[in-house]
Amino acid sequence: MIEPRTLLLGALATVCFSLTGYVLVPALGVETTPITLENGRAYPPVLSEQAAQGREVYRDLGCVYCHSQQVRPETFGADLDRGWGRRGSLPVDYVGQQPPLLGTMRTGPDLADIGTRQPSETWHLLHLYDPQLTSPGSNMPPFRFLFDEVEGHDERALTLPEGTVANGVSVVPTARASALVAYLQALQQPPDVTGSSDE
Ligand code: HEC
Repeated sequence: MIEPRTLLLGALATVCFSLTGYVLVPALGVETTPITLENGRAYPPVLSEQAAQGREVYRDLGCVYCHSQQVRPETFGADLDRGWGRRGSLPVDYVGQQPPLLGTMRTGPDLADIGTRQPSETWHLLHLYDPQLTSPGSNMPPFRFLFDEVEGHDERALTLPEGTVANGVSVVPTARASALVAYLQALQQPPDVTGSSDE
């Protein structure tokens, strides 16, 4: 017959052991402040005001329901072969993000490194206006309400195929569209960062 006290001590030891192994030790290895890259720059960089607004638009429009921002390491899936990143995501990639937009669904490609893969502002604007223009057959919904239709010429207007809008009408990105694209362009994971999940 085991003494109740021994049983209690055993249970307590098990809980403490699990807590140390699963919570405390992993937490020690997680960066909570930006690091300095070899080129002397701080990483992650602070988002510009416009890109920070774009991040709110991204949250607001639910992009996270179709797009993740977490590249899996080489040993775990085909993310790197798909060109979604140049390395697996690391804890430091999420430093300062409130909240981190990891996402769980991948109806569309991972966007953790989209700013590197697709740096063109024009491409992003056209894609948001109508994904079919840049990516025929795309399942992504168009976000036309991020654009204004104005009469006459406007130098910020998108260059659209003839017949998309009535003659003499220009499609102009709103401030929300430009902010969202600034955010997408800022989504870059520099490859020269190392950490525990690279091993
Ligand atoms: C219903 C699901 C869905 C939603 C919501 C969605 N997307 Fe997409 N997205 C896709 C799919 C599918 C693709 C792949 C085809 C394509 O390029 O259009 C894609 C592609 C993309 C790409 C190009 C990725 C690449 O690797 O070339 C970007 C950038 C993007 N989406 C941004 C966004 C943004 C920003 C939002 C929110 C405003 C958003 N998406 C909302 C499904 C979605």
